[in-house]
This record gives sequence, C-alpha cells and structure tokens, in this order.
Amino acid sequence: MSTSTMDLSKNGDVTQNGRARGTDDPSMSAEIEECDFSKLSEKPRPLNLERRASFEEKSFSELSFGMSPRHSLRTVDNPSRMNDHFDVLYSPVISSLTTPRAEQGGEPHPSVSEAWDVLRRSLVYFRGKPVGTIAALDNSDEKLNYDQVFVRDFVPSGLAFLMKGESEIVKNFILKTLRLQSWEKKIDRFQLGEGVMPASFKVLHDPVRNNETLMADFGESAIGRVAPVDSGFWWIILLRAYTKSTGDTSLAELPDCQKGMRLILSLCLSEGFDTFPTLLCADGCCMIDRRMGVYGYPIEIQALFFMALRSALVLLKQDVEGKEFIERIVKRLHALSFHLRSYYWLDMKQLNDIYRYKTEEYSHTAVNKFNVIPDSLPDWLFDFMPTHGGYFIGNVSPARMDFRWFCLGNCIAILSSLATPEQATAIMDLIESRWEELVGEMPLKVIYPAIENHEWRIMTGSDPKNTRWSYHNGGSWPVLLWLLTAACIKTGRPQIARRAIELSEARLVKDNWPEYYDGKLGRYIGKQARKQQMWSVAGYLVAKMLLEDPSHVGMISLEEDRQMRPILRRSNSWTF
Ligand code: GLC
Repeated sequence: MSTSTMDLSKNGDVTQNGRARGTDDPSMSAEIEECDFSKLSEKPRPLNLERRASFEEKSFSELSFGMSPRHSLRTVDNPSRMNDHFDVLYSPVISSLTTPRAEQGGEPHPSVSEAWDVLRRSLVYFRGKPVGTIAALDNSDEKLNYDQVFVRDFVPSGLAFLMKGESEIVKNFILKTLRLQSWEKKIDRFQLGEGVMPASFKVLHDPVRNNETLMADFGESAIGRVAPVDSGFWWIILLRAYTKSTGDTSLAELPDCQKGMRLILSLCLSEGFDTFPTLLCADGCCMIDRRMGVYGYPIEIQALFFMALRSALVLLKQDVEGKEFIERIVKRLHALSFHLRSYYWLDMKQLNDIYRYKTEEYSHTAVNKFNVIPDSLPDWLFDFMPTHGGYFIGNVSPARMDFRWFCLGNCIAILSSLATPEQATAIMDLIESRWEELVGEMPLKVIYPAIENHEWRIMTGSDPKNTRWSYHNGGSWPVLLWLLTAACIKTGRPQIARRAIELSEARLVKDNWPEYYDGKLGRYIGKQARKQQMWSVAGYLVAKMLLEDPSHVGMISLEEDRQMRPILRRSNSWTF
C-alpha cells in the first residue's frame, strides 16, 4: 500500500508531480449585488453571497433558466432576523429560543468546560498553525488511523470553533485540505479524479531534517479502498459555514477555492449512463465507511450532495467558469429534489401504496416505477411507521428500496431544506414517536434497525465490528447530537434536542467521550469504541451552543426553496 507523502516548500505552497496550483489574482469586486439570474449574461458577478450585513442566499428556483424570477426570498442575514424567519416559517416555539440562555442567567454545564479542554488538546499544528483536530486522543491499543485529521470528523470541531468566534483554524483547514486535493491520487495503477478530497491527513515531523510533511489518505489506505465521497461535500458545506459565520467572503473567492469547488462538482455533475439524478456510490464511501449495504444511491450521500450543491450555488462566482457550473447545479437540483422528495419519502400513506403495488408494469404509465416487489417490505417497518410522521428511506434503486432509517441523511435533509417544512415536521414527529428505538438511552442510532444473522453475513461480509446493534449496524453515535439539535432548532422543536442532550451529557464525560455505544438502547460503551473521540466531544459542544444561541443554525442550514413547493405538491403522494 502506498501512502502519499510530500514535502512542503517554505511558503507552504505545494507542488506535486510538477503540477502547481494556479495563483490567480484573488482580488474581487467589493460590490456584491443581488443575485438575479437574468443579469448573468450581461456582466460577470462575483460571489453569490453578500457580506455579513446582508447575507442573502438565492433560491435555486430563482436561478433556474426559463423560470420567471420572483422575489419570494427570505433574508437570513443576521441572527435576529434569521430567527424572525423561523418564527414565521416553522413554529411559535422558536421565539422562546431567541434569547441566548446565557443571557437568561443559566450556568454552563460542567461538561462544557471539560469538552473544550479535550477539544483544545486535540489540535493538530502544521508549521505552527492549527490545521485540524485529531480523530481520537485515545492511545490505548493500536490506533489504526484515529491519530489523523478526518475531513468529516473535523466538521463539528470546525463549527464549534466558528461558534466560539475562533475561525482561523477553519480557514487553515480549508486551505490545507485544498492543497491536498491537488495531489495526484492513485490506487495501484488507477488514477482517481482530480477533485477527490482526502478522507484524512496527518502531519509527520522529521526531527533530523527539521521539517514537516503531510500524509493524506484518499481511500488508498482505507479499509476497503473506497474514496470518501462525502469529504468534498463536507468541505463545501464547511466553506459556506465559515463564510456565513465570519462574513469573510475572501476565502471562498480565492481562485484556488473556486477551482477546488469546481473540481469537486465536476466529479458528481458529469454526464454518463445515469437515468437518475442521484449519485451512484460504492459501499463505505461516507461516515459508514465499511460494507453495510449502503451502496447505489444512499440517502447519506444524496442529502449531502444536495446540501453541497446548494452551498456551492451561493459560493461560486458567476464568472465564465462559474456560470457553467451554476447552470448545471440548478438543473441538477431541480431533478434531484423532485426525485428524492417523491421516491425516497415514506409515510403511512406511501407505505400502504407500496404494500398494494402491482408489479411488472411497463411503459410511462407505470405507478411502481422501480418494480419494487411488495414482499420485499420488511416486517419491522409496519410497526415502526407511526400514524403521524415519515422519513427519507435509505436507498432507492431498481427493485430495491432500503427502508432503514439513516439519521445523518434525514437531519441533513432538514438542514438543507431538501425536506419541505411538512416533511421536516414529519421527520421530527417520527423521532418523537420512535424515541426508544432511535434515541434510547444514548443518542443517536446511526441506522435503524440493525441487521442480523444471515442478512448480516451477506450484507456486511460477516464483519465482526458491525455485529447487530454495534458500530455502524445500529450503534448509537453521540456525534449525531449536533445534527439532531440543528434540525430541532430549524423545525422549532428545541425541546427534543434538550431531552437528548440531558440524556447524554453526564454520561459522555463519565465514559470519557466514546466514539459509539452498543445495544438496542445504546446502554453499553461500544465494543471497540475509541475514548476521547473528538467528534463526540465537538458534537456535544455544537449542540449546546446551538441551543444556547439558535441563530448559529444559519451557518449549517439553508432556507426552503419556496418555488419548488407547488410543483411537488402536485406530483407527490403525501398529503398533510
Ligand atoms: C470510523 C468511522 C468514520 C470516522 C473515522 C474516524 O472509521 O466509521 O466515520 O470518520 O472512524 O473517526
């Protein structure tokens, strides 16, 4: 196995195999106009976002070709105004959230300072600058690759630092991973796409030569040798969070950042044999990075794909190169949201429809388009489905619907507004009514339910780490707390998050921040769980800070695209 390493020249500029990154002039026009697609052909525009004072993000419907622009947008520029939107949009409950708790005189929980201590101890420096956080401080047995900075694991750390007003580390991380992206990536004799972002990286110190080198893993060292499809999406999402939270548009405007984004997008917007707008993936290419039947078109990736596309839309400059991508993104978003909202959505009515499906239908009039055989509906689903509530199922492909619940995909669907407000409410209803199954004694199940016996053998390849109710196979992951909390705030249901946090906070410190818990209720520290797992620590901090000051949710949430609603209401089966 070859692991990519490289020297860094003094000024930190990386050249790899003679290929250096372009250093176009980063200066941008300071004047940022309202985004109006009709103006695009007239003159080039800089970034699709405005500085903090009036940070407005366009709906992609408004950016759509051939659709008449309508000024239905809501501004999410500053925290107080953003909360106004949520008041109007989602719930009366949210207004009780707008006053930060600290202002109400609440004392911070002792776990908070403990968590900050651990998080700060996990900082990884490169040439004296913090560039990330280590995956786990646990140094008990062999550490596998937990001593590396993982891109996906850094997201909650980065958000915690942004919420604390310490944005430098996030900027350094964005730039450093961008450098890594430009490496030539090979597995055996096969070269990976230029845009692939690393799963993780490590700083190597050479005491003799007194220099530092970076080592990165793009999947060539990973168990299963799968490239992390989610890394590039998280990178774009974090870049938007940075821009939104600091108001500093200059980072995203850098030609290198623009190019990095375009390279990521090229990987997933290219034309091929696809008949679906969803992205075809190998098993193990996301947080669930071992074989778990999460291949084909998993919601975990599709929701991130959707969010990254929407984030890129506001970050891409409308220059000649950017414009081309914006056009492609807009078209893809229309198709993707329709496909996911129509075919992945499951509630009582939809379940009943599938249960009564006819099969072997041919032609355009087919109702059962993917030829799903009703007999493939699993037994557990009929009890699990509440009367009120619904969710995006795990996967849809020919004759295969994976009905399992995936926490990350559903929370990201809410945050990105892939879920309509009605769907978002229905997801929260489901979490409330299936509390024992999805939250239990330790939030939250990464997947529900676990697979067992023969099915486990076939699906995981008899993976001993993924036995039933452990690790990815129905284990409980504290990191998911931040996603739940953000989704709760967006939907105006903070009490759900509060309940989940209260359940876990004392235990997390006592157990020394495990990576995951095992068992149907998540009562046991995971079989092979690392301790002082950083995204458990950071996830907890982000959840706490979100509850304390709900306006933070703006950095990881995108407003609903109102113009899509009438179209979807007509075409969808679900009614509320
Ligand atoms: C495990 C997890 C993965 C995570 C990594 C580092 O491999 O499955 O999602 O990124 O550990 O914490």
